[in-house]
Amino acid sequence: MTHVVAEPCILCKHTDCVEVCPVDCFHEGANFLVIDPDACIDCGACVPACPVEAIYPDDELPERWAEYAALNERLAPQWPVLSKKRPALEDAERWGTIDSKREHLSEEPGSGDG
Ligand code: F3S
Repeated sequence: MTHVVAEPCILCKHTDCVEVCPVDCFHEGANFLVIDPDACIDCGACVPACPVEAIYPDDELPERWAEYAALNERLAPQWPVLSKKRPALEDAERWGTIDSKREHLSEEPGSGDG
């Protein structure tokens, strides 16, 4: 069991989730975050912290976002850990209202805690 970051995070990246994670399991891409399934302890603290409801326990992941479980697992080792909150992306408010944005997901790494 793990938790999974799904599509609503894309181009929002509010980062409230990283602050409440007790095991620093979030990894940062350019416009999206993922959870390392090997580090996640399934505490669920991040779920209510996300203002766009992007995070789900893997067994409650909506069917239309099923691919995000594998995406989190694949990208986590490629991206740096982010554990400190930073400002959301510039257009986060607008992108938070847009339902379908999978094609915008960048696989470029973010800067992380660096
Ligand atoms: Fe993304 Fe929500 Fe965290 S928008 S960065 S999963 S608080």
